[in-house]
Amino acid sequence: MANGLFKFGTQQTEPTRSKSGDFGLNENQFTISESTFNTFRDFIYTKSGIFFNESKKYLFESRLEKRIKAIGVKSFEEYFTFVQKSGNVEELHQLYDAITINETYFFRAPQQFEAVEKIIIPELVKNKAGKSNFIRFWSAASSTGEESYTLAMLVNEFLKPKYPHITFQILASDINTAVIESAKKGIFKEYAVRNIPPNLLNKYFKTNGMSYELSPDIRKMVRFANINLYDERAVKTITGVDVIFCANVLIYFDIPSKQKVVQHLYDVLNPEGYLFIGYSESLHGISKAFSLIHLPKALAYKK
Ligand SMILES: C[S@@+](CC[C@H](N)C(=O)[O-])C[C@H]1O[C@@H](n2cnc3c(N)ncnc32)[C@H](O)[C@@H]1O
Repeated sequence: MANGLFKFGTQQTEPTRSKSGDFGLNENQFTISESTFNTFRDFIYTKSGIFFNESKKYLFESRLEKRIKAIGVKSFEEYFTFVQKSGNVEELHQLYDAITINETYFFRAPQQFEAVEKIIIPELVKNKAGKSNFIRFWSAASSTGEESYTLAMLVNEFLKPKYPHITFQILASDINTAVIESAKKGIFKEYAVRNIPPNLLNKYFKTNGMSYELSPDIRKMVRFANINLYDERAVKTITGVDVIFCANVLIYFDIPSKQKVVQHLYDVLNPEGYLFIGYSESLHGISKAFSLIHLPKALAYKK
């Protein structure tokens, strides 16, 4: 491995947001009544597992205000009726796009990527010998693609040269359709690329003004899809995964929805496959199905 590949990342937790000034929005123009908030958040919860508690009411208002304005309805009540209309799948997607938090960047979890390269892939290759030549990664809440493209660079730089007989596949998905479209374009800002080792940044990115364009060779290694992890049928369209990254999304769920989502992940993982979650997340009290593996620098969950 190139010197210092993994020493650039410094783990950051999700940004803390204050009640006012969330995401730079000023005072909300529309206010939601207590009862509409409760009905609306229950609706979102049953569809996505994302849970807004009382303290997130202001955030909820500010995030949905732009949909209310875009559609031209007069209130949260009217907007809720509009979203609920059977078959209004398009607005449901717009709603997900508005409420999800998509913070991410390249090499966010350097110790996990290092463990994949040095421990997990060698083990999987050994176990698969004579049985399969495929290794499949899934970045299950990929946001704008940085995690999956970090894997693609890792594969291209280290794993493909070392294991030329193996076909590495990378799937990335998210509930938010806008971030998936952005991921496919492969254009990033300084914030997203700041932890990329300089040699990889120079090799795989072209700068264009303030933007960094990822090389088409790396882009085409990742297949993107729109998948709601709460939806068992949608998750089941994925099969035979060896390593799942599902980082920094469980924090948006309550315990029952975490349990449900983690079970979905377990079901699509190959026997002896691995699951990585965020540094600040844990499966304690969520699932006993996985074994917790203490790798030298990271924790992983093994099926
Ligand atoms: C904070 S980002 C994490 C991105 C990346 N995994 C990382 O760790 O840097 C959380 C992502 O989870 C997605 N998400 C939230 N609920 C989801 C669900 N039910 N199914 C799929 N993705 C979901 C959001 O749209 C968002 O892009």
